[in-house]
Amino acid sequence: MASERMRIGVLISGSGTNLQAIIDASAEGRLDADVAVVISNLEDAYGLERARKANVPAVWIDRTDYRTFRAYNEAIRDVLLEYEVDVVAMAGYMRLLGTEVLDAYPDRVVNIHPSLLPAFPGPSGIRDAFEFGVKITGVTIHFANENFDDGPIIAQEAVEVAGDDTIRSLEVRIHEAEHRLYPAVLQLIAEGRVSIVGRKARIEGVSQGR
Ligand code: GRF
Repeated sequence: MASERMRIGVLISGSGTNLQAIIDASAEGRLDADVAVVISNLEDAYGLERARKANVPAVWIDRTDYRTFRAYNEAIRDVLLEYEVDVVAMAGYMRLLGTEVLDAYPDRVVNIHPSLLPAFPGPSGIRDAFEFGVKITGVTIHFANENFDDGPIIAQEAVEVAGDDTIRSLEVRIHEAEHRLYPAVLQLIAEGRVSIVGRKARIEGVSQGR
């Protein structure tokens, strides 16, 4: 990855604002990597449109076209390989990832989650933290495994919950943090500075995760 630009495959299911942040960082020279392909499990995910607007190949892979979870994940893997992807970034991909993909990309699949894991995993991390009444929540980027929102944590950014926050105002600040942190972490990966040591992710030259 030293001489050639890293190629990122982004997996999405929805609006793709994190995808957009990655595309923008790449275009603006803040990320020495290119989005090689965007894959969605949903045909109407707006992120596919964002990809097309940025001239990035946009691929819809319909789970119902495949008889098994395994065959579906093999299809995802094959598209990633076809586009010569180096690193897989899950950005609002709302399905589990199969070992077919994970084994093809050992320690090279990352995910973003809108809470400070291991607190509040699952599809409604922002709302769950807000309703619990935490005073600090945030964003986590971690290596992915075959479980939801699990795997070695690469970086986290804290977001304070203010007394007058609504779920909406908190969401805005969480997403702002996401859009800062994801391109920054991908840049560290592009620089070859992120590795897994034992059960933990380590960033070379950084004592904390940010
Ligand atoms: C983000 O909050 C991400 O952390 C979570 O799903 C959301 C996706 O948003 N996994 P977007 O599609 O990137 O706008």
